Amino acid sequence: MQQLTSLPPTLFFIFGGSGDLNYRKLTPALYNLFLDGSMPQKFNVIGIARTEYSEEVYEQHLLEGIKNFSRRKDETGRWKEFADKSSYIQMDVADEKAYAQIVEIVKQKEQEFGVHPNIIFYMAVAPQLVPVIVKNLGKAALCKDVKCSRIVVEKPFGHDLQSAMEMNQLLSTIFDEKQIYRIDHYLGKETVQNILALRFANALFEPIWNKNYIDHVQITSSETVGVEGRGGYYDNSGALRDMVQNHMLQLLCMIGMEAPVSFDANEIRNKKVDVLNAIRKIKKEEVQDYATRGQYSKGWMHSQEVPGYRQEKDVKPDSSTETFAAVKFYIDNWRWEGVPFYVRTGKSLHEKATILTIQFKAAPHYSFPAKAAETWRPNRLAISIQPEMDIRLRFQAKQPGQEMILNPVDMVFNYKDAYNGDEPEAYETLLYDVMEGDATLFMRADQVEAAWKVVMPIIEVWEERKPTDFPNYAPDSWGPEDAEALIARDGHNWIMVGKKNKA
Ligand code: BG6
Repeated sequence: MQQLTSLPPTLFFIFGGSGDLNYRKLTPALYNLFLDGSMPQKFNVIGIARTEYSEEVYEQHLLEGIKNFSRRKDETGRWKEFADKSSYIQMDVADEKAYAQIVEIVKQKEQEFGVHPNIIFYMAVAPQLVPVIVKNLGKAALCKDVKCSRIVVEKPFGHDLQSAMEMNQLLSTIFDEKQIYRIDHYLGKETVQNILALRFANALFEPIWNKNYIDHVQITSSETVGVEGRGGYYDNSGALRDMVQNHMLQLLCMIGMEAPVSFDANEIRNKKVDVLNAIRKIKKEEVQDYATRGQYSKGWMHSQEVPGYRQEKDVKPDSSTETFAAVKFYIDNWRWEGVPFYVRTGKSLHEKATILTIQFKAAPHYSFPAKAAETWRPNRLAISIQPEMDIRLRFQAKQPGQEMILNPVDMVFNYKDAYNGDEPEAYETLLYDVMEGDATLFMRADQVEAAWKVVMPIIEVWEERKPTDFPNYAPDSWGPEDAEALIARDGHNWIMVGKKNKA
């Protein structure tokens, strides 16, 4: 039975309505929310872009997106009902006068709904267009109502600390911080949200979640794809800006944060900012000890020949942009003093996986005979974010038989077994939260800036010292040798766990 929400009437204006993000993610997410009865009873979604589209062609285009990218590709039976609430405005976002069309729609809908609707402006556009849109929305007085109007800003949020601060400054002249929803889609993933449940809803883990019991933490987010036609954007970004500054540091915050006193949006975000502010500032002269970079060459990926990064469309043939980054962070506070957090991410790697591994210290005393304990391994908690969605706790068990032989075994919680595997997509969760006005999973201005401060020394050094060995890793590998060396220097190695990797 479909349940209906009590969300107030809502207008969703999607700037970049003809773009890829709307096609692949936003409309499929909104339609899934609609199927689940999680959209407001009265709503409209209005796509805005420069491309010329008839309403009919636009509808068809969005439907195709659902058929290709929705988690429920085949459930298009109620599409017509949803499409009747969708429309399209063709306009040049730089044209101040064109915003009168939006004002007009808001007026009409206000009359139709009988109340002033909530208005959400979604920036699914290239970052350089955001300032002009924001200014024009401000001039058209479309964002004055702090309670009802909201803006959603996609990443990349700035290109460096300076530009992120400028963007925050501009947004704050038109919007109150409460109205601004800076998206990091990793925070909408079920498995990421579950980290808070695991840590703070169980009495078991928190007492040992510190430097006394944890040896080190690893966070891997690897992709098998290359830049997938996004060379123009990626070549000015690179793995550090594209993944580490945002998604990876957010994951690190979830592992590193102190227990929140409540689930209030600001309380959670305060606790995360505390982590970012406590991350040791890497001195420029020490960057090579803490961070390493790579770029993929051409080669073979799962028996298919694939181009190297420098051969990708819109990438400079001598590009020194990194497609792989590995960094060692320290959180210099009482809980984490001396515990390394190793973070790595890259494209064109052996496997698509995002995994967080908490490696516990070894037992202090091996009371079993040496022969029994040859394969004794320290405990380990592995949280698989994607594509596997599970949590594995490794501990020692006695191997059945007359002799006392110990072996590591896994205790596994798997989402598919426990919940039938029908989790909402990250964008569904996040869009619902924007409609509800819950900013917990969104980045506050100071969070974004603190995250930029963490990576800036590395960015600066990497820009000053061009790499001489690029490309330095083959597709289908685990990245450059230097990344192995970075962690091996501390006596560790990168861990991959899960069904495929029984390490
Ligand atoms: C995006 C990056 O933010 O995240 C992409 O810009 C990357 O380069 C993507 O591929 C990864 O997201 P996910 O959800 O597939 O891990």
